[in-house]
Amino acid sequence: MSSASGFSARIVRWQKSHGRHSLPWQNTRDPYRVWLSEIMLQQTQVATVLDYYTRFLARFPTVVDLAAAPLDEVLGLWSGLGYYSRARNLHRCAQDVANLHGGQFPPTAELLQTLPGVGPSTAAAIASFCYSERVAILDGNVKRVLSRITAFPGDLSEGKQVRALWDIATAMLPRRNLLDTMPRYTQGVMDLGATICTTRQPACQQCPVQSICEGFALGAPERFPVKTRKLRRSAMALSLLWAERADGAVWLERRADSGIWGGLYCLPVFGTEEELLSNLPKRQQSRLHAFPPFVHVLTHKDLRLSPMLLALTASESKAAGFSDEGAWFGRADWEVLGLPAPIRKMLVQRARTQ
Ligand code: ADE
Repeated sequence: MSSASGFSARIVRWQKSHGRHSLPWQNTRDPYRVWLSEIMLQQTQVATVLDYYTRFLARFPTVVDLAAAPLDEVLGLWSGLGYYSRARNLHRCAQDVANLHGGQFPPTAELLQTLPGVGPSTAAAIASFCYSERVAILDGNVKRVLSRITAFPGDLSEGKQVRALWDIATAMLPRRNLLDTMPRYTQGVMDLGATICTTRQPACQQCPVQSICEGFALGAPERFPVKTRKLRRSAMALSLLWAERADGAVWLERRADSGIWGGLYCLPVFGTEEELLSNLPKRQQSRLHAFPPFVHVLTHKDLRLSPMLLALTASESKAAGFSDEGAWFGRADWEVLGLPAPIRKMLVQRARTQ
């Protein structure tokens, strides 16, 4: 694009006057803080991340503290942010930084990418914010901004086209005074994507690069980015066995690392009610109490959850266990264990009314 330098200069200037300046992970060049915020922000809105970020930093002031914590505690603090593979990678990454890199984050985007959970865009965000390295980010917001500015015709559901846009993103980076301009430019394109160049009804009249935007010149910025393959939402029904001991403790099992709620503790999950029933002796089947099903919305899936309560008798409560894997957990444990947010909410609600 002919006006690459015009673009970056305008973004830098606009960030100074109109961008976001007081988010808690700004105004620092500490890679631990920036990395933590970038991982949290990967699939979650700023407003939601704020509280979690503050709590994480209070509990784990340094990457070495995070590395030393039990995974269950990390998952517990993460509970409600979703995409739990992020939390497992976060913990692994902290351990790699502590054990393989002497407690210091690597000094370039290329090396940062070798860490668990740190992809090329996150590595570039950390390196540009903390080290002023001249590297381009390309998250969802920035794909939208750059594909509109250049009227990029390629289909971004194809890897080849994403790579082409990445080359364009690199060509558009600032070239001068990088120490100051790189962090500001990176924050500026993020801010523009979040506040002006929005998916629907972009505020082109307030845009600092409207005069050089090819998508705007065509009269149809919303046509970009071009994406032909659409993700289809799916639905899934799950039955939950909610076994409750006389003292209020419930039986929780740790889920496999992959799949929905991977690695979290949860009530035993079954694909159908019949399957759930077949795991119980007859005398307990007849005592099950079905709660009204409710829908929990994930990004690409609607979960229809049907909790089935089994209140154990005093003598049943004395029995050692309920299935081969899992354990009884009382209310105090639910607060700290990594539990799926809707499950924790359900348990706590019932405990309050008991
Ligand atoms: N989204 C991803 N990174 C961000 C940042 N540094 N500030 C605001 N939103 C973001």
